[in-house]
Amino acid sequence: MQILNEISRTFGEYLLLPNLTTEDCTPDRIDLSAPVVRHRVGEASPLRIATPLVGAIMEAVSSPRMAIAVAQVGGLSFIHQNQTIAAQAQMVAAVKQHKAGFRHSDINVKPSATLSEISALLQAAERDIAAVTDDGSASGILLGLISRNDFHPSRHSFDDTVESRMRPVGQLVIAPPSISLSEANTLIWDRRLDVLPIVGKDGRLESIVLRRDYELHKQFRDETIDAAKAFAVGAGVNSRDYRERIPALVEAGADVLCLDSSDGYSQYQADVLRWVRSEYGDTVRIGAGNVVDGQAFGYLAEAGADFVKVGIGGGSICITRDQKGIGRGQASALADVVTARDAYAQRTGEYVPVCSDGGILQDSHMALAFAFGADFLMMGRYFARFDEAPSPLVRMEGQFFKEYWGEGSSRARNASRYGQHEGLMFEEGVDGYVPYAGSLYDNVSVTLAKIKATMISCGSTSLRQFHETARLVEVSHQSWLQNTEEVSLRSTPSSGR
Ligand code: IMP
Repeated sequence: MQILNEISRTFGEYLLLPNLTTEDCTPDRIDLSAPVVRHRVGEASPLRIATPLVGAIMEAVSSPRMAIAVAQVGGLSFIHQNQTIAAQAQMVAAVKQHKAGFRHSDINVKPSATLSEISALLQAAERDIAAVTDDGSASGILLGLISRNDFHPSRHSFDDTVESRMRPVGQLVIAPPSISLSEANTLIWDRRLDVLPIVGKDGRLESIVLRRDYELHKQFRDETIDAAKAFAVGAGVNSRDYRERIPALVEAGADVLCLDSSDGYSQYQADVLRWVRSEYGDTVRIGAGNVVDGQAFGYLAEAGADFVKVGIGGGSICITRDQKGIGRGQASALADVVTARDAYAQRTGEYVPVCSDGGILQDSHMALAFAFGADFLMMGRYFARFDEAPSPLVRMEGQFFKEYWGEGSSRARNASRYGQHEGLMFEEGVDGYVPYAGSLYDNVSVTLAKIKATMISCGSTSLRQFHETARLVEVSHQSWLQNTEEVSLRSTPSSGR
């Protein structure tokens, strides 16, 4: 037994001291781009992302729709592996085959919904318009559109149905799935539309093209795309069926893989990494983890990991620390691992990026994670709150929530992630709700603005510079308590905090 003379610390225990802000520190000059996979020091990583945020490998988070949305804003998502090989490969293929500019309809209602219900939904999502479909789904028969301008409390009873105020499909401009994006945009401008529904021969809604996507495209110029201009997507794998799963995912077009395990410091992971190298050389890239110390980083880097994921026990839905007594505060874990990463780079000339996974409870924690040296961040709770997350929207006591559950909960039963050989014998995660926050695009814009604002205060124009020059101080227990109280007073359901 060995007791280390170190306290396990989390992000909320630190604050950044401002450095000199120089004239070149302006939001448009801040480069948040990050390497995702291993590369020679001084050379570019074969996979870089402009927005260093990635979606967690979780049922409640990852889906083709989420992967497309995250890639559109310059990040990356991983399709979860707690499903059959065929189902996962199909999700990967769906992302690769997606037509840019055509998106899934976010807000949909049945014609029998009340004006009160649609009003609350539009307000919570900060949206102006919703599709009305026969079954209220994004792929139901399109019956009409309803916007905030179609009803008003002083003129209409909010108990009336959506059907009574919607603009019926016969009065709408719609287009067939064969239309190209530039034709769709021309139609939007010529006919002064905010939204163009794309409807199949059977009358089902297939997708929508939005006028505001023009602006989004201008804002997020650096989408994460492959050489053929398809969106990039990652996929989770495990150390059990990898010999069958990996070839299927590669065939489906996955751009990068990641071993999905709560504790990755294992011979099983090294076996998978070596197998990938021997089968594919450098043509298939694969990350490993999760780990919480430099020794484990070194082990996986030596075995060929293309990036290493850090975090045990810090996830918002995680009860691993209670159940197994293992883990480490995310700040301490990162500090140790990035030291090992930098030493490894100096010794071997190979840079192996570090992904900080879980435990981001508010946006300021993201800046702290970058200050601690993370190359990119994986998040579950953050993305699970958005329209694009696969779980249904739930209304409770007048507030909207999205369901969010851990991979180690009895709902997901991801036994391969938790190395439980007899199926899931005990839980390592919980099943709950997160406050609904609306569209991913709007929220990510605000989050990135906050990270850039922190970097400006700290006088940095790139993540590398931020990591090298950031000055962190510990906060006292007293001021931490005070801050926690203030944060809980200020919190609102729609904010990322
Ligand atoms: P969050 O961003 O704090 O919600 O954490 C998400 C991360 O928690 C994921 O990327 C996983 O690494 C981890 N995770 C997912 N499900 C579970 C679970 O059931 N128990 C423990 N950790 C989990």
